Amino acid sequence: MVEHPVLADRLSVLRDRETAHGAFRQALFEAAAIMAVEVARELPVRDVEIETPLEPTRGLRLRDEVAVVPVLRAGLGMVEGFLRLLPDARVGHVGIYRDEQEHVPVSYYERLPPRLPSSRVYVLDPMLATGGSAVSALERLKRAGARRLELVCLVAAPQGLEAVQRAHPEVPVWTAAVDRELDENAYIRPGLGDAGDRVFGTV
Ligand code: PRP
Ligand code: URA
Repeated sequence: MVEHPVLADRLSVLRDRETAHGAFRQALFEAAAIMAVEVARELPVRDVEIETPLEPTRGLRLRDEVAVVPVLRAGLGMVEGFLRLLPDARVGHVGIYRDEQEHVPVSYYERLPPRLPSSRVYVLDPMLATGGSAVSALERLKRAGARRLELVCLVAAPQGLEAVQRAHPEVPVWTAAVDRELDENAYIRPGLGDAGDRVFGTV
């Protein structure tokens, strides 16, 4: 769990049914930027020698390449927040939607950056409900060679956390909230509704 007062504030804006798509998008960007700072604390660094304008000194640089991979559509709303902190990150895209009847993930797009095996890969999706979409996205990234994967969401249901833990036990999951339950339509309660529709104003 990521705890931060500003993140909690943004999450309440996201949960509020009165928040329209523009304000929702902005709050999602801000929440993702905070998540990025928290998850990036664990990035490995390497020692480097630097010439300042005055003298040589030593410093640290990030050791690895970073890739962020939003799960379309709602994950797109988190990309800019991550790129503010990690402007050199490569961006992959994985398209998955949940079948409305069975709630099983349906994949429809994949475009991934090179050098995944040596990159730190952050999979972005604000909602972790049944976990089907995240489990499928992580499988596809592993098939493409990714080894150091982390899942970053904002609202998770206990079932989704269990599903990811069962299928990908080595993948850390970062979230701003663990909600009570899934309802009969596999929506997270209390949740924030359909994240993709709210980000893009397609409600
Ligand atoms: C939402 C959300 C996740 C998924 C979570 O996407 O962004 O990808 O549902 O549910 P799960 O854990 O049960 O798989 P959705 O299917 O609504 O697609 P969209 O973002 O394109 O609207
Ligand atoms: N996807 C969403 O966007 N919201 C939910 O509550 C569950 C899945």
